[in-house]
Amino acid sequence: MTLITMSRCRARSLQRLLRCKYASGSKASCSRLVLGIETSCDDTGAAVMDETGTILGESLHSQKEVHLRSGGIIPTVAQQLHRENIERVVQEALDRSGVTPAELCAVATTVKPGLALSLGVGLQFSQRFVREHTKPFIPIHHMEAHALTVRMLHPLTFPFLVLLVSGGHSLLAVARGVRDFLLIGHTLDEAPGDTLDKVARRLSLRKHPQCFTLSGGQAIELLAKDGDRKRFGFRTPMGQTPDCCFSFAGLRTQITMLIKKKEAEEGVEEGTLLSCVNDIAAATQHTVALHLAKRTHRAVLFCKANDLLPSDSPTLVLSGGVASNQYIRKALMIITEATGLRLLCPPAKFCTDNGVMIAWNGVERLREGNGILPPDVDVSYEPKAPLGVDISAEVRAAAIRLPSIRLKIPN
Ligand code: KG4
Ligand code: ZN
Repeated sequence: MTLITMSRCRARSLQRLLRCKYASGSKASCSRLVLGIETSCDDTGAAVMDETGTILGESLHSQKEVHLRSGGIIPTVAQQLHRENIERVVQEALDRSGVTPAELCAVATTVKPGLALSLGVGLQFSQRFVREHTKPFIPIHHMEAHALTVRMLHPLTFPFLVLLVSGGHSLLAVARGVRDFLLIGHTLDEAPGDTLDKVARRLSLRKHPQCFTLSGGQAIELLAKDGDRKRFGFRTPMGQTPDCCFSFAGLRTQITMLIKKKEAEEGVEEGTLLSCVNDIAAATQHTVALHLAKRTHRAVLFCKANDLLPSDSPTLVLSGGVASNQYIRKALMIITEATGLRLLCPPAKFCTDNGVMIAWNGVERLREGNGILPPDVDVSYEPKAPLGVDISAEVRAAAIRLPSIRLKIPN
């Protein structure tokens, strides 16, 4: 809903609420403040930000340790941990910013997509909070937030191409505006972070002395540094499908079969660390990087053929948890250098889930006066929610062949 579709009276009272109430510093400079709240998966995050994008205070509670111990995210456990931490995390972000709830201009919260039970905690907390303090509410699409984070850090104008890769998603889209995306490709089965987490679990990397506190993706990146990526050759997925969608489930099957074979050869049970674990990690990471790079290469060519990117400084943004991976960044860098694009990646702490990116998305909406609701409007969470207009069928129909590029990714 926008301001236009609301009744005039409600829109006027919302406008009143959106006026600046916070005068910072002695010069009484005025900036509207947003509280951002994130609980879509296994991180409870909150941040207070002013309208210029300055982070005034933030707090993050990660559930990673607990889920690593139990061998994956159990939604009821995630829900319980969000419940136990949300009040404290939000209070911490407010305390660190020195801002009171009364001084906030709006509250922005992730409401889609994500784990239902996790989203529910953030949404329920936020709706209570905005009603108690009479603040406008900005419901946020988690992937929109990942896509826009980069604009908090760089002066980047629309449109630009984004590759978002995380534990729950893999997508290529053209960002044309704050709430305006063209979806060029998406995963047909699982997301790359999910694949890396499952491979790491199957390899029992928790038992590796260097990896027990790391997420699956981080563990694989670390071990791959000392591995031979050529020792085991995995097939890059979807080589015969000329579109920009992704698939990782088949790759995981290939890797699992290799692990079983190696366990038999070494005469060890499942759950034992294999001697060739570094080489498997290197080959896994390399194949994921190749798959992402090839689909992105085709997306760039599709965008160029259809004038979807500006001729001046066309940009690819890489974000989401898996984008913290340096090897994957280097693979994408080869593509952007070959096609004349600029590559922008937020630093790792802004690639993984956090409250700051949600607050920033709130600021972007506030600046445009778009997607802001009065406190009393009921909002539902949506575990599944596509981003933007899906044009992946058109991309497939274009059947763009890739020119060969030597993807010699430095380790
Ligand atoms: O964006 P994010 O924090 O949460 C989701 O929205 O899913 O991403 C978490 C995912 C996990 O699957 C984790 O294994 C992966 O990001 N990840 C990495 C790295 N750091 C985190 N994958 C590859 N390399 C990394 N360095
Ligand atoms: Zn995420």
